[in-house]
Amino acid sequence: MKNIFSGIQPSGMITLGNYLGAMKQFLALQEQENCFFCIVNQHAITLPQDPADLRRNTRSLAALYVAIGLDPEKVVLFVQSDVAAHVKLGWIMQTISYVGELERMTQFKDKARGREESIPAGLLTYPPLMAADILLYQTDVVPVGDDQKQHIELTRDLAQRFNNRFGEVFTIPDIQLPSVGGRIMSLQEPTKKMSKSDPNQQSFLSLLDSEADIVKKIKRAQTDSDNAIRFDKENKPGISNLLSIYSLLAGRKLEEIEAEYSGKTYGALKGDLAELVLSELKPIQERYHNLVESSQLDDILDAGAAKANEVANATLDKVEQAVGLSRK
Ligand code: TYM
Repeated sequence: MKNIFSGIQPSGMITLGNYLGAMKQFLALQEQENCFFCIVNQHAITLPQDPADLRRNTRSLAALYVAIGLDPEKVVLFVQSDVAAHVKLGWIMQTISYVGELERMTQFKDKARGREESIPAGLLTYPPLMAADILLYQTDVVPVGDDQKQHIELTRDLAQRFNNRFGEVFTIPDIQLPSVGGRIMSLQEPTKKMSKSDPNQQSFLSLLDSEADIVKKIKRAQTDSDNAIRFDKENKPGISNLLSIYSLLAGRKLEEIEAEYSGKTYGALKGDLAELVLSELKPIQERYHNLVESSQLDDILDAGAAKANEVANATLDKVEQAVGLSRK
């Protein structure tokens, strides 16, 4: 059995991009592997969060993990701040990270842009905390979307650097990207990725959007004017994005869908896609609403935190021994 770790930030509405790029992979892995899925609330505070929103979003993401079909009997679901070992190892990983390599992270550059004198230091030191998340569980495989590739490569470098300096403590993790769906694009600017932190609500589909919003957002999705339903990322990014989402939700090949819609209008494709999204999300939303305020959700997170603490503390002990931070 392989160890699997992944995390999602509770920093906004969870999007169809998170679902297709990451969460669908989690579902497939839970049957065979030893999985840890985390709500990374300490990562979320690297940018300002309203405390009440953060608390609500944390709970909401936990409920969504279960609502999409993750089984708390099979996987460990927990909140990052419930396991103190993350920040403890995060600090140690910072001490072996170089400022230059952290400054080269494209997500740091994107998020720091325009903040000038007030770039939070935590934005820069985000990747060593992410490395700690992963390495505490002796993770073999990290399932994520394409945008996390650079962070996982850095995690591998840091793990290797630690092992070379202090002895073989960490497993070197591999990344797992989905074959399709690793980068779902914005509905409004289809050359940008769909993001939960996009201020334009029309640009993303949230897993919790109402039926009316889903239909409206898909109807208004940016396309082009040549009216041919064809997958061509370069020249037709909007239609290609809708076709990718369609293909992933229907479990059908792109070519098959192109053939079915040849000669049909964009409106027809969008109408059918909205139906597909609704039929995927409706049962998830129903389970979500039954769970989100329940004490059952607290029980799941308490049990998850207990299991995660056990595994994480065992690794942290080895690390502290190796570094010389333990007194004996
Ligand atoms: P986050 O919260 O931005 O995104 C969570 C997961 O969703 C994927 N994703 C997408 N996939 C396809 N298309 C999109 N438009 C899209 N948007 C997001 C992301 O790739 C990710 O897999 N740094 C991480 C959180 C994190 C983490 C970790 C992940 C912290 N520690 C340890 C893995 C392991 C992040 O900000 O993801």
